[in-house]
Amino acid sequence: MHQLEQKPVALVTGGAQGIGFGIAEHLLTQGWHVAIADINPSSSTAAQAALAQFRESFRVMRCDVSQEKDVERCVRSVLEQFGQLDGLVNNAGIANPHSGPVEALTLADWNRWIATNLTGGFLMAKHTVPHLRQTKGAIVNIASTRALQSEPDSEAYAASKGGLVALTHALAVSLGPDIRVNCISPGWIDVSAQQHPSQAANLSPSDQQQHPVGRVGQAQDVAELVNFLLSEAAGFVTGQNFVVDGGMTRKMIYAT
Ligand code: NAI
Repeated sequence: MHQLEQKPVALVTGGAQGIGFGIAEHLLTQGWHVAIADINPSSSTAAQAALAQFRESFRVMRCDVSQEKDVERCVRSVLEQFGQLDGLVNNAGIANPHSGPVEALTLADWNRWIATNLTGGFLMAKHTVPHLRQTKGAIVNIASTRALQSEPDSEAYAASKGGLVALTHALAVSLGPDIRVNCISPGWIDVSAQQHPSQAANLSPSDQQQHPVGRVGQAQDVAELVNFLLSEAAGFVTGQNFVVDGGMTRKMIYAT
């Protein structure tokens, strides 16, 4: 086993791009070792650049979080490479919420959303818990404000994220006091910088101004909270769902 200098170690799923990459990058700057597990590990040039910058502290693994064998192999590999695990961030997801009219939603498509967005979180928790117990670690699940409210034709996504919120409090009660488990439900997060850094986001003034805070969210907004929830500073916080949406779900909206 290759034991590196004793920094905390986090496993971030779906970390090759988007919010997951933002979380991975932020944790690296905060002194963590980070392994990312992604079904498409080479999807972003940002991750490749980080790999070069944080060479000793950063690992990228191919893993489909909905496949138990992949998850087992990935967790084993993190332990072999870093010797311990202190934090799990279940971020991997099919981020497109639109599954079409429910009458036309195939069982296969329903199962695809649930398998990645919900079962993936269960499998990762199942296989990391023995290691997180040893370090008194923490888990953060990335759900969505769509666990709480909906647009039409988003049943599979909404159900998967609602399930993740419920999985969070169930795990928190089962795994305490050794392991804390929390959830973050982001609203609209612009991930263009973590997907295609050369292409600026095409956001209108109204996209920004409709948010009570005056802007659309960034991956960093989620990453800051992940870092806090994984840290000992959050030692009295478990089983919770934190909404990070610039206040959108607090606005009363009736068509005029
Ligand atoms: P994204 O599509 O940019 O990133 C998702 C990542 O997950 C990709 O790297 C993808 O390859 C990976 N992934 C997909 N299926 C996987 C699987 N089976 N196994 C392993 N990795 C897999 O999406 P984004 O926007 O960064 O979303 C990240 C998470 O945040 C998702 O769970 C999404 O539902 C959630 N979220 C995103 C919001 C947003 O506005 N961007 C809002 C609320 C929640």
